[in-house]
Amino acid sequence: MAIKRRKFLVTSALSAILTVAVAACASGGSGTAEDGTRRLVMATSADYPPYEYVDSSSGTQEIVGFDVEIAQYITEELGYELEIQNIDFNSLIPALQANRADFVMAGMTPTEERRQNVDFSDVYYEARNTIVSRQGSGLTSPESLAGKAVGVQLGSTQEQAARDLEGLDLKPLNRITEMIQELKAGRIDAIIMEDTVAEGFLASNPDLEANDIPNTGEAGSAIAFPQGSELRDEFNPVLQEMISSGKMDELITKWFGDESPAADELAE
Ligand code: ARG
Repeated sequence: MAIKRRKFLVTSALSAILTVAVAACASGGSGTAEDGTRRLVMATSADYPPYEYVDSSSGTQEIVGFDVEIAQYITEELGYELEIQNIDFNSLIPALQANRADFVMAGMTPTEERRQNVDFSDVYYEARNTIVSRQGSGLTSPESLAGKAVGVQLGSTQEQAARDLEGLDLKPLNRITEMIQELKAGRIDAIIMEDTVAEGFLASNPDLEANDIPNTGEAGSAIAFPQGSELRDEFNPVLQEMISSGKMDELITKWFGDESPAADELAE
């Protein structure tokens, strides 16, 4: 497939080994493929359809989604190979800090707090918070959540938003899929999550409903990099090109559909 590229590197076994060693030192996350193409490691939390999820329908357990296709497009455009690692959301920033990954795409919001520890690309998609609850529960506003058991993803901006609403019985959990199970089983009363992701879960769970709440903090998704990584300046122009060429709209329609409120926003 990519055998053509930089054949000269494999002409000497020694130089190939040195290249791998050097690349491994420069950035623990990445490596160099046998043909000399640099491989970038993307870390994600694949519990977030349609941004990223494990496709169990194909039997391959492949990680697919909106973020994955953006990552594939950008890395291919820049001549990198892509490797995807699936870890808990709360471990993504530590993975960048330890250079175990070259970048993170996980529908991650560029917050002020995170900016202390990682660098972010431009924002490529918007979303807002919504309360997911069982149909007819009446949990439609932030005020109605007082005293209720509310699930949020550990380390997410939704956890922060929920902490800002006082008097909740907060249940931070690792995986979104786990939270939906807890809600359906009645072990929690509601979940605060993003509308873009809630929509998909509602479609397959008619016993649940969602009610948007006003955004308080930052919103939207951006790509995260280790602080000072040169990749940000390589990725941003490709991201902008995807937006201006209509490629991004194409992917938004493919993964979120025309109805998506966030898609409307971005098209403005
Ligand atoms: N946008 C929110 C945040 O940055 C939630 C992202 C959750 N992503 C995921 N892959 N589970 O905190």
